[in-house]
Amino acid sequence: MWTARTAARRLVLSPRRWQHTTSRQPLSSVTPEDIAHFAKILPRNAILSTLPPSALPSSEIEQYNNDWMGKYHGSATTVLRPQTTQQVSEIMKWCYERRIGVVPQGGNTGLVGGSVPVKDELILNLGNMSKVRSFDPVSGALVADAGCILESLSEYIAPHNHIMPLDLGAKGSCQIGGNVATNAGGLRLLRYGSLHGTVLGLEVVLPDGTILDNLTTIRKDNTGKPTSGYDLKQLFIGAEGTLGIITGVSILTPPAPQATNNIILALPRFENVLPLFKTARLHLSEILSAFEFIDREAYELAVKHGQGRALGEDEVEGAQCFVLLETSGGKKEHDEEKLTTLLESLMDAEDPLIITGVLSQSPTQFASLWRLREGITEAVSKEGKAYKYDISVPLASFKDVVDTTREHLRKNGLLHADAVKQVIGYGHVGDGNLHLNIVAAAYTPEIEAALEPFVYELVASYNGSISAEHGLGAMKAHAIHYSKSDVAVDMMKRIKQLLDPRGIMNPGKVLEV
Ligand code: FAD
Ligand code: MLT
Ligand code: ZN
Repeated sequence: MWTARTAARRLVLSPRRWQHTTSRQPLSSVTPEDIAHFAKILPRNAILSTLPPSALPSSEIEQYNNDWMGKYHGSATTVLRPQTTQQVSEIMKWCYERRIGVVPQGGNTGLVGGSVPVKDELILNLGNMSKVRSFDPVSGALVADAGCILESLSEYIAPHNHIMPLDLGAKGSCQIGGNVATNAGGLRLLRYGSLHGTVLGLEVVLPDGTILDNLTTIRKDNTGKPTSGYDLKQLFIGAEGTLGIITGVSILTPPAPQATNNIILALPRFENVLPLFKTARLHLSEILSAFEFIDREAYELAVKHGQGRALGEDEVEGAQCFVLLETSGGKKEHDEEKLTTLLESLMDAEDPLIITGVLSQSPTQFASLWRLREGITEAVSKEGKAYKYDISVPLASFKDVVDTTREHLRKNGLLHADAVKQVIGYGHVGDGNLHLNIVAAAYTPEIEAALEPFVYELVASYNGSISAEHGLGAMKAHAIHYSKSDVAVDMMKRIKQLLDPRGIMNPGKVLEV
């Protein structure tokens, strides 16, 4: 029967109304009484606080309040460093009760301001949760605490001849939990796919302290037959800590390739990148494991700041951009032969796609060539303050996007040593992911206003994504509409409301709620 009451309920469930009914109470700041409670859960040395009784100077927690780029600054008074999932659960139960905002923090290498508070939320740093729980050398399933450093995990499985399915420049500091939370891409995505495929299961502490143990190590799981159940782990991959705290990760690690080679190619024109990619795929097929793009400015910057060994002057003369290509296969000689044939065919062509190619001849040279690409992030941070836009656009438009942005800044009178020093581009060609970096002398409202929404509109004009791999964090929460439909954003808000009804998980990140 149709009654006024059912009508009202239907209205509340409609998206618009739902938004209207989610106004929340403000979050609470951490107090000395909260610290006294945390002291019942954690040992004293796992609580860092400027509040009594420890009353540390704020300099002691500065590293947790500031992000890797020095762009985002929180004002947390308290950092907790639990060692067990149970402790995380107890902390969350209390924070849920008290409505204290919580920022999960891994290695704090994120590039979108997601890992530091927007105000004075509590920081829950996972660094003390760093044990490998199990490794099966037959299946390659690795189960580890979320706070394990990516590089340590690589070292742990190396003697078993396995590698992590992802690799990134921040490997020495970033944690597997942070990688999963950001759905990090990196340098091996072309070969091993995204974490949505390689993560087998997760252990997550929900905002109210409930532990969701989904740490399976099996590859096929259709729980909920006859139709598949909801694959809950996928919700937390890329959620950037807004739905819960990842405390354990089960991940499929591939067997280590028996041979790896890399080669850097200097190209006379950007237009050659796409045909080169096609040719490389054709010649190298299954052994092609990375195809990375570096524009001339990015290359010069890496060299300037000592990242890797520069190519000879004559080798780079006339080069507009570079490609770093890696192969991972079963037999070195076989792979080298394929690479040499590729090189010959590129050089012998009537209108050669490349000016030159340098093939690494030793493990040191291999590492040095990779450093030229991986080290760009560090070189940029040494040069100045970076506005980093991590975007997906059609490959053919990479150069246009960089040039158009540079031109826009020039027209706005901002392209000079005291404002914007350089506009550079590099990225993962195989994934259609361009890193557009604007290197400035300082972060200023004037530069930011010139760049946003300009860059987002430019990306939207190519039907691209404003966040290819780094996430939305605090930087792009307001701009999510450029890449997601209203329906999708509304559904995300509903999921957030369902899992985090009090809005305590990483507030102000991903979604503006
Ligand atoms: P943090 O920076 O601490 O956190 C990142 C986000 O995840 C935050 O929103 C945080 O709240 C959340 N989070 C962290 N841990 C957890 C957890 N256990 N549970 C729930 N939420 C959590 N990214 C790429 O995708 N590809 C690259 O190639 C790449 N290269 C990089 C190179 C350098 C030099 C640097 C500095 C960064 C790079 N990044 C790259 C960006 C960054 O996303 C990754 O470094 C990494 O995935 C972040 O891991 P982290 O442990 O440092 O997480
Ligand atoms: C990279 O590909 O080097 C990383 O995503 C970091 C960056 O964008 O600088
Ligand atoms: Zn990247």
